[in-house]
Amino acid sequence: MAQSKVLVIGGAGYIGSHVVKALLQENFAVTVFDNLSTGQRCNLLAKAGFIEGNILDEAKLNDVMAKGFDAVVHLAAKKAVGESMENPQKYARNNLNGSINIFNAMINNGVKNIVFSSTAASYGMPQYLPIDENHPLNPLSFYGFTKIEIERVMDWYSRLKDFHYIALRYFNAVGYAADGSIRGKEQNPQNLLPIVMEVVTGKREILNVFGNDYDTPDGTCVRDYIHVEDLGRAHVAAIKKLMQDSQSHIINLGTGKGTSVLEIIQSTERVTGRKVNYDFAPRRAGDPSVIVATYEKAQKILDWKPQYTDIDEIIKTTWNLEEK
Ligand code: UD1
Repeated sequence: MAQSKVLVIGGAGYIGSHVVKALLQENFAVTVFDNLSTGQRCNLLAKAGFIEGNILDEAKLNDVMAKGFDAVVHLAAKKAVGESMENPQKYARNNLNGSINIFNAMINNGVKNIVFSSTAASYGMPQYLPIDENHPLNPLSFYGFTKIEIERVMDWYSRLKDFHYIALRYFNAVGYAADGSIRGKEQNPQNLLPIVMEVVTGKREILNVFGNDYDTPDGTCVRDYIHVEDLGRAHVAAIKKLMQDSQSHIINLGTGKGTSVLEIIQSTERVTGRKVNYDFAPRRAGDPSVIVATYEKAQKILDWKPQYTDIDEIIKTTWNLEEK
């Protein structure tokens, strides 16, 4: 059987490169499209093709789509929550315009299937837990808003055109490929685990734990940390599903399990054998106390469930990278 062809836009990024790895493992022919603004050359896997380009370049996107693909994965977005509140124009341009350019180029060239990298940030303050896909959407950031708007455009396109999508709403993505094949560290990380790693390796002096007076067992915020290789497998399952039945869906990807900031610190200390230097700091604006997903829909539609459920195992895959 001929190999199915997949274009991974944003495939040099942290999550994108793990999606590429999962696709290659399942024998897809993969081409990466990335402008290397936050993606990194060292994340490009040898077996995938690479085209350097920007999603704001409509002509280039049209040329690339004309090569013909069975599916697209779109992970090319700006994702710093704080920055999106200071510079919404940048997020409107990159995330909204860029996505629309991708969808239009697909339609112009008869490319029908897309898996879209969406986010749990679209839900905002949880009204109930665990969060399912029917939870109201009240994003607390412009970033989260852009992701929902893109989902809405895809929904309209799916009704009007031969266009089929699966939007995957990730919870907190963490970890690295266990075999060490992906080594690109994010520059100026904003997320908890990469910051913790910078603290244990001495690159950063101290971790500020944002708030210890939340209504949680130890007072610190609880999140649903999902391993990036589990995310990768879910994208493969979503592509296969789209190619099989052309049905559009919105699906959460989480573990259903909550871990507090202090538990992340304790786990890191167990795994690394080092102390994490931390201090309690005021709450960060807009941080919900607890966010936990249900992945029932992913299980039902994609026959997917997370393989990494132990936080020590997850952190070990990140620590492996630091140790080498
Ligand atoms: C993150 C992303 C969001 C994404 C969401 C998916 C950011 C800022 N947020 O949210 O875009 O859609 O996952 O659910 O990138 N913390 C500290 N000290 C720090 C950093 C973080 O205590 O220096 C705490 C936070 O208060 C939070 C937890 O660690 O409770 C995780 O924070 P973070 O990694 O920033 O992720 P989220 O804000 O949960």
